[in-house]
Amino acid sequence: MKQISRKKEVVLTKILYADQEHSFIWFGTESKNCDGSVKTILYLIIDNDEGMLLDPGDTRYFPQISAAIEQYIPIKQINSIFFSHQDPDVLSGISRWLKATDAKVYISALWVRFLPHFGIFDSDRVITIPDNGLAIRQESGNELLCIPTHFMHSPGQFSLYDKRSKILYSTDVGTALVDDCSRPLFVENFQDHLKYIEPFHTRYMASNTVVRNWCEKIRHIEPEMIAPLHSPIYRGDTVGRFLDWLSELKCGSDLGLYEYYF
Ligand SMILES: [Fe+2]
Ligand SMILES: [Fe+2]
Repeated sequence: MKQISRKKEVVLTKILYADQEHSFIWFGTESKNCDGSVKTILYLIIDNDEGMLLDPGDTRYFPQISAAIEQYIPIKQINSIFFSHQDPDVLSGISRWLKATDAKVYISALWVRFLPHFGIFDSDRVITIPDNGLAIRQESGNELLCIPTHFMHSPGQFSLYDKRSKILYSTDVGTALVDDCSRPLFVENFQDHLKYIEPFHTRYMASNTVVRNWCEKIRHIEPEMIAPLHSPIYRGDTVGRFLDWLSELKCGSDLGLYEYYF
């Protein structure tokens, strides 16, 4: 794992997949309080001389992340940015990233009308993803599949499957609410990991019908890794164990509607 340190924050990077023309790279920060504990910030896909950022989020780590990205590809060669949904931890830094790059933005058709609120008025830089998904063809011929992930938790949300690396970027799906001292890069003990993922998925996902349908689609593409935005990555047998667990989960409206206090 490489370390880039600037202004006290340490940004870590890890190449999850690489061949001669394609790579998939993780970026995160290291907790100051606990050794070996990490937090995911974003992912970068490099295909020949073109880069794509996945959910670069807010701008708190912008200088450090930019420096870390430059270790792999010049920022000006970031030609696309994928925004999985509209939450602030995903989208709030969009104007800064668009100033720093010439990238086009991929985002759900549902959230395009939000972009002027972030100072984005140039529709030429926006590619809308229709509700049923999109296949993005890269320079090498590789395809990135924007897979509908609606209502898990956002109504306009997409995961992104990189066919070449067989890595599924799952946005907030699979996210664990873990304390700062419990963040390995990969899920090591799925049984132990359950206590970190269950509260989030139970409360944020709409219903078992929704999560089961998504799990069936994902099983069909057979990813080798499932990489969430905020937390440890599933690989090996934890991929199947996560999908098995999620497809059986009762969540959201399955648990009944909320009572009003008035
Ligand atoms: Fe979110
Ligand atoms: Fe999130």
